[in-house]
Amino acid sequence: MKSKSVEKLYDEIGRRYSENKSVAISDYTELPTRLALSGAVGRKDVLDVGCGPGRHARALLDRGARVTGIDISEEMVSAAKDYCGGRGRFFRADFERVSFRRASFDLINASLCLMYSPNLKPVFKNFRAWLRPSGRLIFSIYHPVRFFQKVPGFDFSRRQKVWIHLQGCDVTVWNYYHPLGDYFDALLSNCFELRAFVEPVLSRRRRGWPPDSYRIPRSIIFEARKKA
Ligand SMILES: C[S@@+](CC[C@H](N)C(=O)[O-])C[C@H]1O[C@@H](n2cnc3c(N)ncnc32)[C@H](O)[C@@H]1O
Repeated sequence: MKSKSVEKLYDEIGRRYSENKSVAISDYTELPTRLALSGAVGRKDVLDVGCGPGRHARALLDRGARVTGIDISEEMVSAAKDYCGGRGRFFRADFERVSFRRASFDLINASLCLMYSPNLKPVFKNFRAWLRPSGRLIFSIYHPVRFFQKVPGFDFSRRQKVWIHLQGCDVTVWNYYHPLGDYFDALLSNCFELRAFVEPVLSRRRRGWPPDSYRIPRSIIFEARKKA
C-alpha cells in the first residue's frame, strides 16, 4: 500500500475525525484520564502536540490553561480553532521540525500522535528542552493489543509501519509501531522520570458500547516529569 503523507491524510479526513465513534469513546476513557493526570492547569502554559480537532485543547482551556496547539494538518488546525472558539493559539507545524524557546511550557500534551514519528529520541529531547524544570509530559499511544486484534501474525519485536482502519472515518491510516521499550528508552535517556502508566477502558456504567470497549484498552497514557 502506498503511504500518503500524514498531512494529506488528516487534511482528507478533516472534520469526519471529530465525529468518529472511536474518538467519542476516548472522550470517556482517554480524555478524563489525561485531565486527572494533568491536575490543576490554571494559568499553566500547555503545548498540545498533534492537537487534531482540539478536544484536549478545549478541555484544558476550560480549566484555565494557556494553550498552544500545533498540528501538521491545516484542516485540523482550523477545526481546533473553531472548536476552541477563538481561545488558545493554534498553528500548523510539524512536531519533528518546529522549535520553541527553551523552558516555554509547564506541560506538554501529545495524544495519539507520536506514533507518526519514525524516531522517538530526538522528539523527546526537544520536549525536554521546551519544558520548564519539573515540567511534565503526558502522551498516549495506541495500545499494542490493538495490533494483536487487528493484524494477524503481527511482529511485536521490531519497529515497523502499520496500517489500521479508522472505523467511522472509513479510512485506513498508517503509523509506526514502536515496541513499548522504545518509549521507555526515549523517556529515560532524556532524563524523564515516569510517574504513571495507564491503560484506560470504558466504565461499565456507560452502556451501549461494543463489548470489547469495557475490557480492551485502546490506548496507553504515560505521564513523565522532567528531572531537574
Ligand atoms: C490520531 S490524531 C489525534 C488528534 C488529537 N491529539 C486527539 O487525540 O484527538 C493524530 C494527529 O496528529 C497529527 N500529526 C501527525 N504527525 C504530526 C507531526 N509530525 N506534527 C504535528 N502533527 C502531527 C495529525 O495531523 C493528527 O491531527
